[in-house]
Amino acid sequence: MLVRGASTIRDAEGTLHSVDRPVVALCRCDKSSRLPWCDGTHKVIPRRRTS
Ligand code: FES
Repeated sequence: MLVRGASTIRDAEGTLHSVDRPVVALCRCDKSSRLPWCDGTHKVIPRRRTS
């Protein structure tokens, strides 16, 4: 998820993270080593079957 124009991001535990870029990518898969930020790990996680 890309977020534009935020100065801070609050994670699920309530911790505030400062944002120093105009656009940041938030992790939605919960596998990033840099949570709450996306580090690209989602690209190597096998997809779940839906059936
Ligand atoms: S969405 Fe989790 S690492 Fe990219």
